Amino acid sequence: MPDGVHGMTDDLAGFRAETEAQLAAATDLRAWDTVRVGTLGKNGRLTGLLKGLGQVPAEQRKDRGASLNRLKGELEGLIEARRLALEGAALEARLAAERLDVTLPPRPHPPAGAEAGGIHPISRTIEELTAIFGAMGFRVAEGPDIEGDWYNFGALNIPDHHPARQDHDTFYLPAGAAPEGARDNNFGRRPVLRTHTSPVQIRTMVSQPPPIRVIVPGRTWRADHDATHSPMFHQVEGLVIDRGITLGHLKGCLIDFLRAFFAIGDLPVRFRASYFPFTEPSMEVDIGWNRKTGELGKGDDWLEILGSGMVHPRVLANCGIDPREWQGFAFGMGIERITMLKHGMPDLRPFYESDLRWLRHWASDPLAPASLTEGV
Ligand code: PHE
Repeated sequence: MPDGVHGMTDDLAGFRAETEAQLAAATDLRAWDTVRVGTLGKNGRLTGLLKGLGQVPAEQRKDRGASLNRLKGELEGLIEARRLALEGAALEARLAAERLDVTLPPRPHPPAGAEAGGIHPISRTIEELTAIFGAMGFRVAEGPDIEGDWYNFGALNIPDHHPARQDHDTFYLPAGAAPEGARDNNFGRRPVLRTHTSPVQIRTMVSQPPPIRVIVPGRTWRADHDATHSPMFHQVEGLVIDRGITLGHLKGCLIDFLRAFFAIGDLPVRFRASYFPFTEPSMEVDIGWNRKTGELGKGDDWLEILGSGMVHPRVLANCGIDPREWQGFAFGMGIERITMLKHGMPDLRPFYESDLRWLRHWASDPLAPASLTEGV
């Protein structure tokens, strides 16, 4: 066989030219793929030529093999180049078709004739908490309002006749009250309206291996009602489980959170020894304020703001986590309480009274969600 272009035999040069023409004619990725498969695929033309090498007379086989390999490299290069060109063109077309006109004026908000809705201060605080803890690597976990007493008490090291069961003014429910999804083998004997968000610590630890970093904002319930207590209120729980977690992590995390949330960079924060059955040691956290004026961050008074501590080894063990390997801290605080303090609201009850005058006054702009860059 005489040598053709680039030292190739005529049949191979012809094959190469045909493939190039096919690639040029392929104007989308689907057509391109047909050419690719028809050339390099299992039953492709080049593959067929390589398979046929065995039938070539021995004295020509070496040259033929070398030509085929060179051709293979060239075709692979051509095919890849065509793919890049087609993908680039497809992207250009999409960018052109989906062009946004950023100079258009925004749609009026609220729409003409309608009243603007707003974000309720409780939702707003939850957004703010989520932004702050989200930046520290926490994700949000949730659990049911109707809990089993094992989740709400037992697993948290609060046994049956422990006084904390009374302290919480628990709403007990009839045995059948728990929704299907919340019931499992751990559930316990009596359904309760959860008295705190701490049962979600347990649900998180039994359902996922450490490391864990969650916050749990949600509704909680206690039989209590006055200017600063409502039978339904909100808490946010925090839980961190990892190796080598110390009280230092707890303190750093909570000091950073409180200063960011109240937007007071030098807010005084005090940790005071306390007791919770599910943490050891336990600490109440206070912030500095002026009791007379209500001003936060100034003055010589202290205001209790949340409960916290190192997760009790027994609680870890109750969830199947080895306390010799894993440690952690937890904290819980009232959402209404920190909202009232941040904004200087005197009374808790209007949170739930749907009084439009109150809502209009305290609601925040739904088009400006809480973020750390804009300031929570
Ligand atoms: N669950 C406690 C309460 O409701 C708060 C708390 C949570 C304390 C986590 C310590 C650790 O009072």
